[in-house]
Amino acid sequence: MTQDELKTLVGQAALQYVVPGDIVGVGTGSTVNKFIDALASMKDQIKGAVSSSVISTERLKAIGIPVFDANEVGELSVYIDGADEIDGAGCMIKGGGAALTREKIVAAQARRFVCIADESKLVQVLGQFPLPVEVIPMATRRITRQFEAMGGTVTLRLKDGVPLVTDNGQHILDVRGLQIRDPLAFESEVNQWPGVVTVGVFAHQRAQICLLGTASGVRVLN
Ligand code: A5P
Repeated sequence: MTQDELKTLVGQAALQYVVPGDIVGVGTGSTVNKFIDALASMKDQIKGAVSSSVISTERLKAIGIPVFDANEVGELSVYIDGADEIDGAGCMIKGGGAALTREKIVAAQARRFVCIADESKLVQVLGQFPLPVEVIPMATRRITRQFEAMGGTVTLRLKDGVPLVTDNGQHILDVRGLQIRDPLAFESEVNQWPGVVTVGVFAHQRAQICLLGTASGVRVLN
């Protein structure tokens, strides 16, 4: 099976976690796009969605699913999203698509996080994928030095040759060379650095369930 087919497989498998009559939390990325496509078949059974990015909002609306502001609704039964890396405990690196801040906000609003990913995303230790960190631009140099002191190598994410601007009007640093052996402690520490909007380690908002696409079908980790 191709990686694209594995993404389709888990995108469809995630439908079983959508609660009819509820509003579903929807993430961002190529795997979630497969989920959104599959969700079209349930659009008359759900009230709508809370989305984690402008791009997912557009995709949801295009298939006729109402999208609510996070402040308009209460707790969500489920949040479904992809990951750049996930470990055996459900801790993740996210933000490859630059949507990490809203992803963490919607994940925090949901009772459970169902991660959908192809098997290449499963790792023993987080950190091989460059860690995305959304930052306030005036703090970029100091935060860069703080990661360098930890052994990381930092690059400012660009788009079309200029710094990428997130949906929240901020910048993204990508940090290479870290081995994140204690994701909870790491996330707590970096969250306290002034100017950090969101660190792309999801340990406090870890996945309770991961649907992993493999050549032999969907493997469920929980
Ligand atoms: C978006 O900011 C990310 O957190 C995505 O969820 C993550 O990059 C996974 O994306 P893919 O499904 O495209 O691999």
